[in-house]
Amino acid sequence: MKNPMFWVLLTGMAILLIHQGLPVHSQGDSQTDNKVMDNITVRQGETVFLRCPQGDIVTHTAWLNRSSILYAGEDKWSVDPRVSLVTLNQEEFTIKIEDVDMTDEGPYICAVQTSRRPRTTSVHILIQVPPTIINLSKGIVVNEGSNVTLMCQASGKPEPSFTWKLLSPSGDLASEDEYLDIPSISRQRAGTYECTAVNDIATDVQTVEITVNYAPSVSEGRDVGVTLGQRGVLECEADAVPEADFEWYRDDRRIFNGFDGMEIEDAGQLSKLTFFNVSEADYGNYTCIAINKLGSSNTSFVLYEVIEPTSSTLLQGPGAVQDGNSGSMGTHVHTYTCLLLAILQFLLRF
Ligand SMILES: *[C@@H]1O[C@H](CO)[C@@H](O)[C@H](O)[C@H]1NC(C)=O
Ligand SMILES: *[C@@H]1O[C@H](CO)[C@@H](O)[C@H](O)[C@H]1NC(C)=O
Ligand SMILES: *[C@@H]1O[C@H](CO)[C@@H](O)[C@H](O)[C@H]1NC(C)=O
Ligand SMILES: *[C@@H]1O[C@H](CO)[C@@H](O)[C@H](O)[C@H]1NC(C)=O
Ligand SMILES: *[C@@H]1O[C@H](CO)[C@@H](O)[C@H](O)[C@H]1NC(C)=O
Ligand SMILES: *[C@@H]1O[C@H](CO)[C@@H](O)[C@H](O)[C@H]1NC(C)=O
Ligand SMILES: *[C@@H]1O[C@H](CO)[C@@H](O)[C@H](O)[C@H]1NC(C)=O
Repeated sequence: MKNPMFWVLLTGMAILLIHQGLPVHSQGDSQTDNKVMDNITVRQGETVFLRCPQGDIVTHTAWLNRSSILYAGEDKWSVDPRVSLVTLNQEEFTIKIEDVDMTDEGPYICAVQTSRRPRTTSVHILIQVPPTIINLSKGIVVNEGSNVTLMCQASGKPEPSFTWKLLSPSGDLASEDEYLDIPSISRQRAGTYECTAVNDIATDVQTVEITVNYAPSVSEGRDVGVTLGQRGVLECEADAVPEADFEWYRDDRRIFNGFDGMEIEDAGQLSKLTFFNVSEADYGNYTCIAINKLGSSNTSFVLYEVIEPTSSTLLQGPGAVQDGNSGSMGTHVHTYTCLLLAILQFLLRF
């Protein structure tokens, strides 16, 4: 069975074939019939069957991977356990390769020695690999205005293509590349970015977080009117990343929590200064300062007095009014005066 001359010829022929890039048709001057079969496309991990038609007058037959013999007849030459014989008879010579991988891609040749002349059949195995994102930028924290580039590298065959998406706030992004450039990033561009790598076989998706830091900006303080002895609350709201720390001042004097029946309560973007029982001395000008490592912002509030007609006044009528405008005037006049007072107080704030 093992005719040395045949194998020498075979190996030489195979090397020649590889060298010439697998000619589709035999050359006229050749003594060999060369046939090229359709490419076999198979996914990584699957099993591929290599089938070679024989003929009833075959004397020698072999399957080669490039120039190395996998099987010569029923003799296995390959040491690879994934390679095995399926069928060997007068019609066909079939071997299989299990759990194929990228390195198995390439030309495979079936060489047959008939009584007349040698014949080869070559087939090209193409391996497909699903995309896997192998190198994605880590989550980053940047200051507003920075130039940001995100990277998403993926393996896969065919070569994967990429899409980028900003998930929250949602929006598709222009890049169709491994790289996403975000020049001079704004706070609106902070969020979760999704990279999708896709090829003919599958898709891989991963996300990365961008945090954009910016200095606080506090919303303008609204002055608050409170009646003596009542509860009063000043609210200071700051938009900032990272979250701001708050400081409260009465004129130039810093106020601390628990001071004089006051309470300072911070919850995220909001700081509240509460007076549990407003006294005459509490009326005045307050300033809230929001601070983070990128800067600060402040606003001022005036806590002013509101004199409300007491409930007893309303119940007892004009006779009980304490402003001196009581007496013979009618209820209508009194109501009018009250209204005027309220308007006056409102105007005095400015
Ligand atoms: C088979 O695959 C090879 C390598 O990718 C390619 O050059 C060749 O054109 C393909 N042949 C056919 C018939 O598709
Ligand atoms: C085919 O040859 C290549 C290159 O030598 C090798 O890496 C691969 O494992 C071989 N595959 C089989 C099934 O023999
Ligand atoms: C990921 O990409 C970076 C930057 O290009 C490179 O330095 C690093 O080696 C890559 N890591 C892997 C696992 O490919
Ligand atoms: C961002 O990129 C622009 C244009 O390339 C450049 O002019 C600018 O200096 C960069 N900014 C920073 C903060 O690196
Ligand atoms: C508020 O303070 C005044 C004066 O100190 C006091 O008379 C009054 O009882 C207090 N009211 C409450 C609800 O604590
Ligand atoms: C309150 O205080 C701030 C800071 O001291 C000052 O800028 C602002 O003009 C004051 N407002 C009033 C109404 O006095
Ligand atoms: C408040 O902000 C103004 C600018 O808006 C700034 O000039 C001032 O110094 C700030 N005041 C404090 C106490 O930080």
